[in-house]
Amino acid sequence: MSYKIAALGGDGIGPEVVAEAMKVLDAVRHRYGHVFEWGTGPVGGAAIDEFGTALPEATFDVVRQSDAVLFGAVGGPKWDDPRAKVRPEQGILALRKSLGLFANLRPVRMYPQLAHSSPLRPERLKGVDLIIIRELTGGLYFGKPKKRWETSRGRRAVDTLSYTEKEIERVVRVGFELARKRRRKLHSLDKMNVMESSRLWREIATEVGKEYPDVQLIHMLADNAAMQLVLSPAQFDVIVTENTFGDILSDEASILGGSMGMLPSASLSSLPTADSSKPRKSSPALYEPIHGSAPDIAGKGIANPIAAILSAAMMLRWSFGLHTEADAIEHAVDGVLAEGYRTRDIAAPGERTVGTTDMGDIIAGRVV
Ligand code: IPM
Ligand code: MG
Repeated sequence: MSYKIAALGGDGIGPEVVAEAMKVLDAVRHRYGHVFEWGTGPVGGAAIDEFGTALPEATFDVVRQSDAVLFGAVGGPKWDDPRAKVRPEQGILALRKSLGLFANLRPVRMYPQLAHSSPLRPERLKGVDLIIIRELTGGLYFGKPKKRWETSRGRRAVDTLSYTEKEIERVVRVGFELARKRRRKLHSLDKMNVMESSRLWREIATEVGKEYPDVQLIHMLADNAAMQLVLSPAQFDVIVTENTFGDILSDEASILGGSMGMLPSASLSSLPTADSSKPRKSSPALYEPIHGSAPDIAGKGIANPIAAILSAAMMLRWSFGLHTEADAIEHAVDGVLAEGYRTRDIAAPGERTVGTTDMGDIIAGRVV
């Protein structure tokens, strides 16, 4: 089969880690005989510098013609003026919104080999295997009004947390469907003690839950969940929550495993149907590491490419239905970690480290 992939590196370490994910997909091509056709284009700060916009039309055209998007990261101090009209982050936000990618899957796995880089004690990490489903095209990120203005008493700004019934229903449903394939436990996080939108969220989650009597639905306040995630993370299986809560809690959850550099994500507009071997007819899904552009280490060749590489594995699994090939990448990562290869972020004191491209080479070499 032939698959078209838009590889958008973006800013900072984004292009460095995406290059390694492409390298690993090239190894998959060699081994399994698929054809990956690559497209690319500027996005984020790099696009602002060149075209004055974070998502140029030409880049979006490439995306539209692709079966999936492999995304790096956007942003950096150069574009961080809070008064700027254009921001790098608009690139990724516009992609998510215009492709209708409402369900963001962020799996958190423990690698026993990396237990030392976790801030938590090993006994707390036992059995941790959870997935956060972050609602991605609504909530506080996109509600209107969203603006700032001058008043007679000074400057004022507003963001709006708004959801329709349909927006909540479809993402909660993704939560139930995933839970059904896993340990049948769904935590729905909200702030229903404070927010009207959360009360609607909880009501709808309960209603949808009636269709899934085999899944245990647990409502939890998001602030409590932030605490529970470090206190006893193994209690969670699938978590579903609002855009901003999911953004914050997934950063928190990512360090359970030791480093943000390990966490991939998939942003989907629907769950694949049973016959996912056929290329999707819907809009392309997007795959990206949850980490940012890390400007402090950009260009040094020391970034951890594993989150991007595991995002490529998620692409094979969720967009192309290539489960054997996705497994091959994940096993390669496991193997390389077991053999003791480490980038700086996951190295124990005194442990030898490898750079970004070496890590990519080594993982690509283990794809069998
Ligand atoms: C993420 C990032 C983005 C977000 C930024 C870069 C806009 O933090 O993917 O988690 O806030 O969604
Ligand atoms: Mg984030």
